Amino acid sequence: MTYFDIVRVDPNDHALVQSWFAAREAVATRDWPGTRPLNPVYTWAALVLASSDVRRERWAAVRDGRVLGHLDLSLPFLDNTHLMNLELGVHPDERRRGVGSALLRHAEQRAAEEGRTSVSSWVPVPIEGGAPISPDGSHFAVHHGYRTSLEGATRVCDLDAVDDTELERLWDAAWERAEGFELITFTGAPPPELLDGVAHLHARMYTDMPLGDWDLQEAAVDGERILKEARVRRLRGELHLQAVVRHKESGAIAGLTEVIVEAGGEEHCIQGDTIVDPRFRGHRLGTILKIANQRAIRQWRPKMRYVWTGNATSNSHMIAINEAVGYRLVHHENVYQKKR
Ligand SMILES: CC(C)(COP(=O)(O)OP(=O)(O)OC[C@H]1O[C@@H](n2cnc3c(N)ncnc32)[C@H](O)[C@@H]1OP(=O)(O)O)[C@@H](O)C(=O)NCCC(=O)NCCS
Repeated sequence: MTYFDIVRVDPNDHALVQSWFAAREAVATRDWPGTRPLNPVYTWAALVLASSDVRRERWAAVRDGRVLGHLDLSLPFLDNTHLMNLELGVHPDERRRGVGSALLRHAEQRAAEEGRTSVSSWVPVPIEGGAPISPDGSHFAVHHGYRTSLEGATRVCDLDAVDDTELERLWDAAWERAEGFELITFTGAPPPELLDGVAHLHARMYTDMPLGDWDLQEAAVDGERILKEARVRRLRGELHLQAVVRHKESGAIAGLTEVIVEAGGEEHCIQGDTIVDPRFRGHRLGTILKIANQRAIRQWRPKMRYVWTGNATSNSHMIAINEAVGYRLVHHENVYQKKR
């Protein structure tokens, strides 16, 4: 018996949703200062508009109408159907009373009911000299038998602090190595002639990036999935800035990068996928893509300040590019995983 109930969050129950948001806000303030802040507009929008490739379930531990803790489950249904990802937080005033454990048990039960054999969660981890974030999440995960399967690092680029002269120098030097390629930038849904190439590279992200022991498997990404996702982003009010490089002779899409500006995100935005096709590596295309999109952010949102990115700690090539264009390390963020 617990002193609370675990209920599904009904978006029409406004009092519950307000309390659910307040609990999330309290966790973000207490546990993750100095990291990308919780975006209220995105949080509301995502409550009713999930990405087109995952089913989301939102659960809450509730007592007398007050949310003590929240649990978000993501169940991919187009590929990786063995996985379930979770995000969980307990209001700082309610810790060490078993709320987190009850929510985690609930998550594992839902995973079993849905035939998911692997449960994972991204958990921020503090580093010396980094943001003063709490280690509670990683201690809790380890206590419950979860193991680190991928070590990641989160970096931020302060666009106001970037040395534009240095960026210009990097840009010119990169193009000297990239003869035969052209750059194309766009927002939202990719133009039809780029669609298949863009889908192919997003799919490769699942297999090409270093994954450690995280058992992420090949993805089924095609043009239709990309267009569906573009629609969801549009409905959530997101600005999706993308840059691709094309190999002029063959017409192949050689690389891409993307930045997501969430609705209401005035100061903080998110770096999404960046990938260069292995056939075309070694031409500084990664640097060109990142600089091009950094400039696009400034054009579309002149007051935007921070771009957040996450990489596997072992991804030395990507990290070197990020540091060259102005990113600095803020904290680690690992995938904790348990298999049945
Ligand atoms: C992690 C979190 C959800 C734990 O919630 P909680 O309700 O306090 O957890 P429980 O009371 O069920 O803790 C169960 C056991 O986990 C371990 N544990 C929990 N928090 C811990 C901490 N800060 N340090 C060490 N062990 C901890 C303890 O063994 C605890 O048992 P005990 O209290 O008898 O010693 C909460 O601290 C939180 O919301 N953190 C921020 C969000 C986060 O990091 N989420 C990622 C979770 S995977």
